Amino acid sequence: MSRVLTGDRPTGKLHIGHYVGSLKARIAMQDSHEVFIIVADVQALTDNFSCPEKIRENILESTIDNLAIGLNPDKVKFFIQSAIPEIAELTIFFMNLVTHARVLRNPTVKQELKSKNFRNPPFGFVAYPVSQAADILIVRANLVPVGQDQKPMIELARDISKSFNKIYGCNVFPIPIGVYSANKVLVGIDGKFKMSKSLNNAIFFSDSDEIIKEKVFNMYTDPNRIHPTDPGRVEGNPVFIYHDLFNKNVLEVQDLKERYVKGKVSDVEVKHRLFLALTEFIAPIRERRIYFEKNKDIVWDILRTGTSIVKKEAEHTLELVREAIKIDYFK
Ligand code: TRP
Repeated sequence: MSRVLTGDRPTGKLHIGHYVGSLKARIAMQDSHEVFIIVADVQALTDNFSCPEKIRENILESTIDNLAIGLNPDKVKFFIQSAIPEIAELTIFFMNLVTHARVLRNPTVKQELKSKNFRNPPFGFVAYPVSQAADILIVRANLVPVGQDQKPMIELARDISKSFNKIYGCNVFPIPIGVYSANKVLVGIDGKFKMSKSLNNAIFFSDSDEIIKEKVFNMYTDPNRIHPTDPGRVEGNPVFIYHDLFNKNVLEVQDLKERYVKGKVSDVEVKHRLFLALTEFIAPIRERRIYFEKNKDIVWDILRTGTSIVKKEAEHTLELVREAIKIDYFK
């Protein structure tokens, strides 16, 4: 069975953008692959190092979200990044295989620096893609399902893996393949930026129906359409992007689109239908969230079990790595 590794930074609750970007693919893979989910607290600390309590709280939230969307803990191994010190070790060895210039060129990191207004970023933050390569390769994963924004990270991991095997004349690491969601990054309810907690433009799995309603009704649509009788634009319109992704009633969506371009439907109706579709999708996930919120011990046990399995894998990987780099002095 080929191995899959993916995961999240525990910086907040997950939202429907995460679903489109990667959660959906995780669920699809859990029956046919050995899936590992990393709770990337060390990576989260690279830009949150001064608020460790926030990361600690979100370890649980993030795991609960993954369980609630339907990942089965009997099949999927959840683990905590900081509990595997071998990842940090591997990162150090990988740093030699990446040029300084390449680290600074990473378009996703650049975008993050811009959106976070990070003028003088810590070294750890710009270097996090190297440690992400270690996250992937510590379990020698073959596949990495992620959103399109993670492409530069996967490319880096692939190149690091190739360099490592070539330079040290070994075959320790597979060349991991990125599995990108067909949909590009999901736009937020502001219609401007990628959906993201920090930009305040997300719909969360934990949102109540009232909050979902409020968010949907405040959504950005076609800015040129003032009256329901004005012909509207469907392409690139966030309300229709969401309809296409979350409304199971394809005929309804088709009908709304046809009427929208003709100026024969109000934004209110389009949004009301979207609200109904979204609550239908989110309600069962929210129920499961509540169950795990009430049973946190179960969640900690899932994390403990997964982490101890990965720890053994990681120790084995590091043995192979030390041997390859010829630093296995006291073996
Ligand atoms: N960088 C990813 C994100 O922001 C999270 C992540 C950390 C990850 N380590 C990973 C994703 C390893 C895939 C593989 O969403």
